Amino acid sequence: MKVIAIDGPSGAGKGTIAKKVASILNYTYIDTGAMYRCVSLKSLRNNISESDEESITNLLKEMNIELSNDGKVYLDNEDVSEEIRTVEVTRRVSKISSIIELRKVMKIKQREFANNNNVVMEGRDITTEVFPNADYKFYLDASVEERAKRRYLQNKEKNISISLEEVKKMIEERDYDDMHRPVGSLTRTEDQIYIDSSDKSIDEVVKIIIDIVGE
Ligand code: DC
Repeated sequence: MKVIAIDGPSGAGKGTIAKKVASILNYTYIDTGAMYRCVSLKSLRNNISESDEESITNLLKEMNIELSNDGKVYLDNEDVSEEIRTVEVTRRVSKISSIIELRKVMKIKQREFANNNNVVMEGRDITTEVFPNADYKFYLDASVEERAKRRYLQNKEKNISISLEEVKKMIEERDYDDMHRPVGSLTRTEDQIYIDSSDKSIDEVVKIIIDIVGE
């Protein structure tokens, strides 16, 4: 089955772009960040300490995660699409995603999605760890200023009042965590196709990808 892998920092537009590319190609869209967020949410609900690595890894082994092509996320058959985006879940997910054993189990689950489907999969380590031999590997980037602005406007639409400065600080902290994890860190490599979306619209980036993939 074909795999289009997209990595990049938070707020670069990976989700929106991957979803559109998947829809045009009729591939399955897989948001791997949502999978880490499901583990974060369930560990919060079950009052598991974020340093209890074994219990957190076991949670993932037992949970059922379903991802629909319109971006909806189901945890044990419950729609958690909104709840996994709260500040509480987001804060905890950085710590959780540094658990090495958890990442091993995650990798197995993520690879299973491509057993019977062509996939567009986005995250931080998809081009390097999960599918290093993917058919196409993209690194989608944008300046910190631009990413903060986009996230700030998204928040405003949802009536979440966080200042632009604060959003920028949170993005910078997450960039640091994502790039300095001992395993599965966000890395740029020679064989990724690098796209800087800072001054491009969503549709322009989608077109660049579709033209390269050539279908
Ligand atoms: O893409 P996102 O912001 O929803 O991802 C949530 C967190 O999950 C992010 O802080 C890093 C982590 N993550 C990861 O470690 N590996 C991935 N492949 C995807 C996400």
